[in-house]
Amino acid sequence: MPSIKILDKEFVPYLSEQTIQEKIAELAIQLNKDYEGKKPLFLSILNGSFLFTADLFKQITIEAEVSFIKLASYKGTSSTGNVITAIGLDINVKDRHIVILEDIIDTGKTLHHYLPQLANMQPASVKIAVLLNKKEALQFPVDIDYSCIDIPNKFVVGYGLDYDGLGRNNKAIYQLKED
Ligand code: IMP
Ligand code: MG
Repeated sequence: MPSIKILDKEFVPYLSEQTIQEKIAELAIQLNKDYEGKKPLFLSILNGSFLFTADLFKQITIEAEVSFIKLASYKGTSSTGNVITAIGLDINVKDRHIVILEDIIDTGKTLHHYLPQLANMQPASVKIAVLLNKKEALQFPVDIDYSCIDIPNKFVVGYGLDYDGLGRNNKAIYQLKED
């Protein structure tokens, strides 16, 4: 696979479409088993998770729902920064079994800030499923229940993940090239 250029940066192939799809298929099998009879609500965090969510959800064979929220994090005056809800939940999650779908966990900031808000809505359970887990980058404690692929602390693009808004429309995942 050739490298790709996005704006000023070069990215080298890192995870093939086949690898990604195999890991998602394994996750779907596990979720179909764990959530049988529970009618889970898959809660996808936009934007990055849209392809992961679509490919996973197509392989969910049990009764299940999917919905989307959009969280945006920005660095305010406080050192931890803030996470704002740009598009919020439009359904009642009380007593529902929720599986959060995230493309990647990096510092953990986004979910660490959002989880207490979700807990206030009294769901029956909340678990987190991620495609990519940058374990070494974690700064805010978040328990990941389902993790498809552990990756090193390097910037990646493709398969929904962007660099400055671009690069999401690649079927594979690419890693920033070191100089
Ligand atoms: P966190 O709040 O630091 O865990 O960051 C989570 C969000 O940051 C992810 O949902 C992505 O949207 C974005 N992000 C983190 N690492 C990368 C990366 O390597 N490439 C592209 N986006 C990333
Ligand atoms: Mg994301």
